[in-house]
Amino acid sequence: MEQISRLIAQMTLAEKLGQLTMTAADYAVTGPLITPVSEDAIRSGAIGNLLNLYGAGPTHRIQKIAVEESRLRIPMLLGFDALHGQRTVFPIPLAEAGLFDPAAWEATARLAAEECTGDGLNMTFAPMLDVSRDPRWGRIAESPGEDPFVGSVFARAKIRGFQSANLAGPGAVSACAKHFVAYGAVNAGREYASTDMSEAMLREVYLPPFRAAVEAGVTAIMPAFTDLNGIPMTAHVYLLQNVLRGELGFDGVLVTDYHAIAELLNHGVAGDLAEAAALALKAGVDIDMMSDAFRLGLPEALRRNLVAMEEIDTAVRRVLVLKERLGLFDDPYRRGRPDVGMTAQSRALARDIGARSLVLLKNGANSLPLAARKIALIGPLADAGAEMRGPWGGAGRIEDCVSVLQGLREAGLDIRHAPGVAIDTDDVSGIAPALELCADADVIVLCLGEAALMSGEAASRAYLGLPGAQQDLADAVFEKAAGKSVVVILFSGRPLAVPSLVSRAAAVLAAWFPGCEAGRAIADVLTGKVSPTGRTAVSWPRAVGQVPIFFGERPGGRPFNPKDHFTSHYSDVENTPLFAFGHGLTYGDFALSNLRVEPGNPLRVKVDVENRGARAAEETVFLFLNQKRAGVTRPVLELKAFGKIALAPNEQGTITLILPPPEGRAEVFVGPNAAFTSLLSLSI
Ligand code: BGC
Repeated sequence: MEQISRLIAQMTLAEKLGQLTMTAADYAVTGPLITPVSEDAIRSGAIGNLLNLYGAGPTHRIQKIAVEESRLRIPMLLGFDALHGQRTVFPIPLAEAGLFDPAAWEATARLAAEECTGDGLNMTFAPMLDVSRDPRWGRIAESPGEDPFVGSVFARAKIRGFQSANLAGPGAVSACAKHFVAYGAVNAGREYASTDMSEAMLREVYLPPFRAAVEAGVTAIMPAFTDLNGIPMTAHVYLLQNVLRGELGFDGVLVTDYHAIAELLNHGVAGDLAEAAALALKAGVDIDMMSDAFRLGLPEALRRNLVAMEEIDTAVRRVLVLKERLGLFDDPYRRGRPDVGMTAQSRALARDIGARSLVLLKNGANSLPLAARKIALIGPLADAGAEMRGPWGGAGRIEDCVSVLQGLREAGLDIRHAPGVAIDTDDVSGIAPALELCADADVIVLCLGEAALMSGEAASRAYLGLPGAQQDLADAVFEKAAGKSVVVILFSGRPLAVPSLVSRAAAVLAAWFPGCEAGRAIADVLTGKVSPTGRTAVSWPRAVGQVPIFFGERPGGRPFNPKDHFTSHYSDVENTPLFAFGHGLTYGDFALSNLRVEPGNPLRVKVDVENRGARAAEETVFLFLNQKRAGVTRPVLELKAFGKIALAPNEQGTITLILPPPEGRAEVFVGPNAAFTSLLSLSI
């Protein structure tokens, strides 16, 4: 601390603003490149932090300039987006959320952090904690899904994983929870559009994961690009200062999103860069990512008395405190393990997490696991290793990615393959040759879906069907294959609204983007080596017109009653999702019984689980609450706990779920997903 005060006292204004500036190298570009990084700017102290540069060689070289050649020798924060792995790419967060396993969530963050430090990084812009209920929004792929409780448990696990117990210890990085707040509620699911919501919705749904992140000690938070109720988050004094720093007690670093301060001009709330910079600083922002607004605008803002030097010093202090907590003043190059690339262990973890993230949506006539027969592997995602990384592939390399074709061949299956069509073109000339392969096969495995970059940032979609001519391919295969089993493996960064595809397929596996070990993970499930256990962390709509769709709706005064026209419904589609939150089949056959609540504080909710199937498998159960509170409506279901149990055939066990006692009357629901028909219930 003393060292920091001494440093601040010695700093020129330009050096202070350098500490408040983060500039992108051109390794990965997610917005306009305004300031080419020059070594001179680092040497002069004008740029104090970087993003989008990784690899021990380049990062150490640039860090060396900062700590050996700049006047004050202050090390740089070096940040990168390791959303779902760094070199070892894990399933996208939406898929990983479906493991419902905090230890696994933590383990992947831990490995990513170790790989980040091996790459010379000390900060990652993760976890992304935006509750996402609208699959039109591409960034749903980066999120833990639709539920605030899941988001909160996910947040804690990820922060533990990235930062470990000792931020200055080996293999730990500063986590940056993002995007604060309510970005997932962008209007009509359109990227960068505005958001508007009640304070109750904000506090009950969008804020809890960030509260959990702060409680877990997250060291940095990124405000969202978007505005909320008319105030851009980058300049939101009430939410950043009063709520985040005040109420939640966050004392870490606020890093803007890419170019967000400059975009305050487009939002129409600032007249020039000096005003924009002043608004952000006053709202509590510490680091300006890629606007150059602090560097270029704050000197003028000082002249106009829009900001005071003390406010600049406060931000500089927070940045330096983070650098100190990371141990950068002692070891600017990080004491992570050396960059060892992917290892047998990291591959094994990616394969295990990948297999457990796959969601078996449907398994008609027990089509899966596959009996070893002649397989026609059709579709544009079958031999598409690079796509398996999904959006935000970190430092993952194409050559490290295992395609479905490769994975199934390695597993010894008899495969013939044809793509049929490309992911997103109109060319149907490949369909006929693909059909010929089908004629000669016992089983057809159709690998369909989105390209990796159809979800993620700036990837909103208004239609949620299959892109390009893939539906034509599927239709042709179903026609040709009458009598044969067609298994669909669906790749996507969001739930797709493909009800007819689902009804015509014998089995459907939602693979999301499973990461670098995709092909082997999928082979493990298709062959029965692993019984699927993934659950969807987001409701799957039947039609785009249903979105946003989520289980935590408030009850209306006219809940749907099929016998009464004047009740809440669509005239052309059911109200329910095609697959409810939590849905996911296994190769077991589970029955739940004997729901009971043991008194105490907390309450212990118990349910017996029996595997009546012929295969060992793992069941996941969810505990929801329906609370009745005088004066205010509560969601029909609120998720309060989840648990898992692995059971052999004919084995029985008990899952115990912990529940803080609700205020007032409540009903407890327990079941394998959020569909009312599958839930046991009890009043408490
Ligand atoms: C994204 C952030 C990301 C940043 C840096 C932005 O475009 O919105 O999520 O952390 O770029 O890459």
